[in-house]
Amino acid sequence: RLIRISDDALARALGADKLAAAYEKKGCEVHRTSSWGMQWLEPLVEIDGIGWGPATLEDVDDILAGNGDEICIGPIAAHPFIARQQRLTFARAGKTRPTSMEDYAATGGWTGLNRARQIGSEAILAEVTQSGLRGRGGAGFPAGIKWQTVARAAGPQKYIVCNADEGDSATFADRMVMEGDPFLLIEGMAIAGAAVGADQGYIYVRSEYPDAIRKLNEALQKCRDTIAPFRCEVRVGAGAYVCGEETSLLNSLEGKRGEVRAKPPLPALEGAFGKPTVVNNVLTLAAIPHILTEGGASLYEKLGIERSKGTMPIQLAGNIKHGGLFETAFGISLGELVNDIGGGTDSGRPVKAVQVGGPLGAYLHPDQFDIPFDYEAYTKADALIGHGGITVFDDTADMGAMARFAMEFCAAESCGKCTPCRIGSVRGVEIIDRIRAGGRTPDEIERAPQMHNAPRHGRSAGDEIGLLTDLCETMKFGSLCALGGFTPYPVMSALKNWPEDFTGKAAAET
Ligand code: NAI
Ligand code: SF4
Repeated sequence: RLIRISDDALARALGADKLAAAYEKKGCEVHRTSSWGMQWLEPLVEIDGIGWGPATLEDVDDILAGNGDEICIGPIAAHPFIARQQRLTFARAGKTRPTSMEDYAATGGWTGLNRARQIGSEAILAEVTQSGLRGRGGAGFPAGIKWQTVARAAGPQKYIVCNADEGDSATFADRMVMEGDPFLLIEGMAIAGAAVGADQGYIYVRSEYPDAIRKLNEALQKCRDTIAPFRCEVRVGAGAYVCGEETSLLNSLEGKRGEVRAKPPLPALEGAFGKPTVVNNVLTLAAIPHILTEGGASLYEKLGIERSKGTMPIQLAGNIKHGGLFETAFGISLGELVNDIGGGTDSGRPVKAVQVGGPLGAYLHPDQFDIPFDYEAYTKADALIGHGGITVFDDTADMGAMARFAMEFCAAESCGKCTPCRIGSVRGVEIIDRIRAGGRTPDEIERAPQMHNAPRHGRSAGDEIGLLTDLCETMKFGSLCALGGFTPYPVMSALKNWPEDFTGKAAAET
């Protein structure tokens, strides 16, 4: 019997290796595949397209006998969580062995690269631009325009750098690509190389992803001849969140301290080792083979809404019943993602807040659940879609504590280069502590501004809230990079939507 079990790090953490060994002991052929991305069902055992999950060692015999009804989910591909998706980047998820050249080629691998080589640089640039693909790391800058800038830059030496320093909370899509379909990323980088005239690539991976590092290195060994003359190496980071910022990443890549560089010059003109460099996120580069396989009028251009084209691999996490990877066209509402697809909270309690876009993303209130997943719509709501991570909180969450955490996180991860972030974040923690220690709700303060009830510091909670708002403005507009510049989003959204958590009962209990 052929058994398929994922070797994704999440499945392994939940016991997939032991299950695989148990089936091998029983004489079964076991294929370790990528994950389907239904995390609440891992480890998922698949036989002839039928799935059982989450499976334990006690289920091994029952599953082999075709029993185990209570954990059987039927045909995996027809499961609503999968059937509702439009998987382009994750088309192979759950279906192939990650580092098998045979599986990759048999499922359309290298078609995009071969076609790219035939049509040449200008045509590749035109197709990527026409597709409307925007940077998936968070900022959403059009990939085709970035590539054009690098292609037109002077100089014989150029680089492709893949930003795989996936540090946002609730994000794991980069990891799943690298662990589950590493050739896809490598193919995307080789196409980028052909487009801009770069023969060297670097994948900068965070050290917290050992499985991804191992698989990328294995895949790079195997496909060396296929991608030549393009060459690619893995470089491992050392755990600083700010190294996900592109200029800080480049410094780290060059062996320097991971400190942010001022822009300009843009990395597109002076990037790695001072040479023109494409810096793209894993998901951006992994979207490329599909676009080049299909040609200019690919599905990418047809899917999505407004200026947000194609699909986005959205990551559902936190207190959610059905967490996992959900790739869909832009435009889906937050409510549909959290309630219909995610099934609401895992605790069964009401959803209180949803943070979209990592630790620097805004906390959205259920009142905002009709916002479509679209770069501009989120910007308009003082929020960001970032790298597509969604963290759900139930009604026990203390949003004042979460706002404090945002400032604390910024203080811990700041590279120290600019004052609003380095000092502002520390002052931010102190102000939130003062508000939570002695204040009243902004509503109460509005009604009775003359009542100063925080005599210890000579300022009322209202004054402190004003100070916090001022500080956030300074950080937003005065910081050199997104770390300091975006920290105000979680802080101000928490303050706006849940003021009672700053000065009310929750604060009083801490
Ligand atoms: P940005 O807006 O400064 O730049 C976006 C990209 O476009 C950069 O690569 C920049 O070099 C490039 N660019 C801008 N103008 C260009 C031009 N004329 N020609 C060529 N290239 C050009 O944004 P930044 O600071 O790079 O990224 C901020 C984003 O990072 C935020 O939106 C945030 O969501 C995201 N982020 C993602 C994290 C993750 O784990 N993926 C972690 C933290 C933040
Ligand atoms: Fe460094 Fe923070 Fe300034 Fe960014 S905002 S450059 S992380 S100090």
